[in-house]
Amino acid sequence: VTTSEYTLGNAWEKARRRVSLIEELYDDTTTARLRRLGIRPGWRCLEVGAGGGSIARWMCEQVGPGGRVVAVDFEPRFLAADPRANLEIVAADVTTADLPGEGYDLIHARALLVHLGNRDELVHQMARRLRPGGVLLLEEPDLATCCATGSPTYVRVKELACAAVARKGNDWYWPAMLPRKLVAAGLVDVAGEASTELYHGGSTMAEFWTLTIEQITPMVLAEGASEDLIATFMAELADPAQWFPSFALTRAWGRRP
Ligand SMILES: C[S@@+](CC[C@H](N)C(=O)[O-])C[C@H]1O[C@@H](n2cnc3c(N)ncnc32)[C@H](O)[C@@H]1O
Repeated sequence: VTTSEYTLGNAWEKARRRVSLIEELYDDTTTARLRRLGIRPGWRCLEVGAGGGSIARWMCEQVGPGGRVVAVDFEPRFLAADPRANLEIVAADVTTADLPGEGYDLIHARALLVHLGNRDELVHQMARRLRPGGVLLLEEPDLATCCATGSPTYVRVKELACAAVARKGNDWYWPAMLPRKLVAAGLVDVAGEASTELYHGGSTMAEFWTLTIEQITPMVLAEGASEDLIATFMAELADPAQWFPSFALTRAWGRRP
């Protein structure tokens, strides 16, 4: 898998908005989990695939001037636009370069690994980069839940999108395996959870889905979708009377012994 195989790149004109929607939808639950995992002043943290950077910047506040946050992204334009004194920005492709540094108290990634062909190896690498006692939190969207719905169009577009990105090494059905991946990487005290949004057309989640499918429309068409199918999908997502189940944001965490 190379850089070209990430299908939702930050260079797209609407990428900043799309990444902001992820932050709006999930930052509260991510930061709540990070607090429960014990983030505190002085910690050294690694944020992988940092995107818009809201979690990296939040970590900077938590760890304070005596701590440090390293944020990796191969398109770090949004990180660079809003730096912090204790934030180190690393522009690197984690499918080809090793993760920077080691001995971290905390490593976190969200909405990254499903897109990368070397996801299993990366979990092992992250586990190795923790200090003994350090914690890993991974949060990834599992699209298995986007099915039990009254809209055949929604289900069909989801299936075609998953098949299209699978050709690039993405696996949007992988996250349910996260706990066993953490155990296989040698972590202990492993636990997990998943939560699904039920959302209506015109909502924040609907906008997120609209932008996601808009960004990869050429791939979904190449997979066999018709222009009409995509247009119907977009119209349903704009209709407040329609309801949909989203992906399950699936989290797992564990500690290096
Ligand atoms: C869907 S966004 C999620 C951003 C952020 N983690 C969040 O949840 O708000 C995925 C991010 O990972 C980055 N990314 C994707 N593939 C990457 C790779 N191979 N190496 C480094 N970063 C990558 C993208 O540039 C993007 O910023």
